[in-house]
Amino acid sequence: MRFPPGLLDEIRARLPVSAVVGKRVRLQKAGREWKGLSPFNAEKTPSFFVNDQKGFFHDFSSGKHGDIFAFVMETEGVAFPEAVERLAGMAGVPMPKVSREAEEQEKRVRGLNVVMQLAADFFRSQLEGRIGAKARAYCEGRGLGPEVRERFGLGYSSPERHALRDYLAGKGVSVDAMIETGLLVHGEDVAVPFDRFRDRLMFPICDIRGRVIAFGGRALAPEVPAKYLNSPETSLFHKGAVLYNHHNARKAAHDRGTVIAVEGYVDVIAMTTAGFPHAVAPLGTALTSEQLALLWRMADEPILCFDGDKAGRRAAYRAIDVALPQLEPGKSVRFALLPEGQDPDDLARSGGGQAIARALDAALPMAELLWQRELEAGPLDTPERRAMLEKRLKTLLSGVRDEDLRRHYRAEMDARMRELLPRPQYGHRQAGQRQHAGPQRGAMRGRDPRRGGGFPPEPLRASESLARSALFSQAPAISPREALILAALASHRDLLSAQAEALLELDLEHPDTRRLRQALVDIDAHLDAGAADEVRAALDAQGLGPLLARVEAAVRPGDRWCLDSSADPVEVREGLRQATTLHHKARTLHKELGMAEMAFAQDPSEANQALMLDLRLQLSTIEGMEAEIEKRGRDDPLADPDQGD
Ligand code: UTP
Ligand code: MN
Repeated sequence: MRFPPGLLDEIRARLPVSAVVGKRVRLQKAGREWKGLSPFNAEKTPSFFVNDQKGFFHDFSSGKHGDIFAFVMETEGVAFPEAVERLAGMAGVPMPKVSREAEEQEKRVRGLNVVMQLAADFFRSQLEGRIGAKARAYCEGRGLGPEVRERFGLGYSSPERHALRDYLAGKGVSVDAMIETGLLVHGEDVAVPFDRFRDRLMFPICDIRGRVIAFGGRALAPEVPAKYLNSPETSLFHKGAVLYNHHNARKAAHDRGTVIAVEGYVDVIAMTTAGFPHAVAPLGTALTSEQLALLWRMADEPILCFDGDKAGRRAAYRAIDVALPQLEPGKSVRFALLPEGQDPDDLARSGGGQAIARALDAALPMAELLWQRELEAGPLDTPERRAMLEKRLKTLLSGVRDEDLRRHYRAEMDARMRELLPRPQYGHRQAGQRQHAGPQRGAMRGRDPRRGGGFPPEPLRASESLARSALFSQAPAISPREALILAALASHRDLLSAQAEALLELDLEHPDTRRLRQALVDIDAHLDAGAADEVRAALDAQGLGPLLARVEAAVRPGDRWCLDSSADPVEVREGLRQATTLHHKARTLHKELGMAEMAFAQDPSEANQALMLDLRLQLSTIEGMEAEIEKRGRDDPLADPDQGD
């Protein structure tokens, strides 16, 4: 969704940042700014600042920085469009009118939402009323007490064929609307439409805003043919694109930085009760790629938790194929396979929150489960069979869309393949040593569950330079541009003083540069005017010498001259100005791209795709341009870096 250009500014103009932030953080006036305890980290001394004039907040403890929309997104865990909507409401700015058609459609949908809510209320009152005695007893037997029933809006549908229909008709709901919402069964061979859900425990299924869009109904008796019956596809409900409990889990997932997908409704409830409110479930089908995309919007590495039975393992294996193409650097899934014969509900009852936590902690990385699955396909005792495995892996991995990730997956699988090779030990076996199944040995080890996600014992050998590169180190690389800005300011005291405010507003990506910024701003505030060396000395005194060295090391060779404290300040300032401009541009594009990608995930229209591709192109143009400048500088020994064009 794109908002008209004036709208965001209008909202910003009407809402001081301190008013928005103040709803969550106790703020105290500090000079021209406000300060308070960081909402992102537990802390005792305030390191969270709000500047109403500039319209931003800055949190030194986490490095988070942004405007009111960013604040709402960060603290409420909502997407940009929703943040805009909320703040528009708070500011009293009307949201832009959409087309007549869209409005009509929306009105109709709102009408259907009302019908669903009425049905949910009816089911609820039935469950807690006289007719619900049997269902309540069933609930109690499953540990679903009154509080849980209330929290998840559980209900009961009466065994009569027209109970809901008559109730809704009494509220003025048309039969058409009841059919459109899937509450009634109708059809050519059905003379009188009748209630779809009868004599079932009802689980309302909500959209991301908590509006009821469907129901799942569990039979109370074991002999009933369908244990669970779900609403059909309707204009409100697209099964493959919805997660049960999404609306509740979103905030919890945001707070905890992860999200858990389990198989069933009762499992979600059991997880919540056991202290894991960041749990969702698909709706009786295998996890779809749309649902995965929803999970990835909540966390980088969702945990997929499967029942400890054959069906659970099959479902996990299938999820591999759904996830594989969509993986990205840093974005994956983990697999928690529960103990034999247990689902999360059983596990929570038998071992409580601790047992759940243990199962989640032991979750396997994608690569490990993929490997286990392929090994289970058959014996690997001949070259032909191993070659077959290799071939299968190759085909599978070619499905990983991200090029860098594909390379890493290949490297890991290659290493695991190498480990499979039988290592003949002619006559070297010592007396008493266990005879292994020879060629199968490696394969058996791959299947050993105790091995967890372990890397092969013989690590991959990377070339020296590759091993030193950011690719192989733990931390992500510092952007050369961020590094240049920080390192140059550390070397030029005057520039630092002049730029301290601007420095605070920079949207820095890397924890090292954010840390260095904080130190520089502090030092600037406390040191008397003086030479650059004093800044260095102050950094050293705080033990930050290595931090500075790391940042300096990330500066492109062609830019190193900016770090020389005797370089011409006018030229350094110009270099800094260019770097800052490009930095802003890249970060803005980055954010817009993130939003465009979200919009595309929500609505994969051509327009959204075009916008996304265009932003990617612009971004790669900026990055490519700089790399090109640097490459030229390095390849041509005659080029004078100080005279860059
Ligand atoms: P399970 O068979 O694992 O059920 O199905 P469960 O969640 O453990 O159910 P309880 O504990 O016996 O009540 C997992 C999910 O698959 C869907 C439901 O969404 C269920 O929660 N399902 C299952 C159906 O849609 N229809 C069925 O007949 C069975
Ligand atoms: Mn169960």
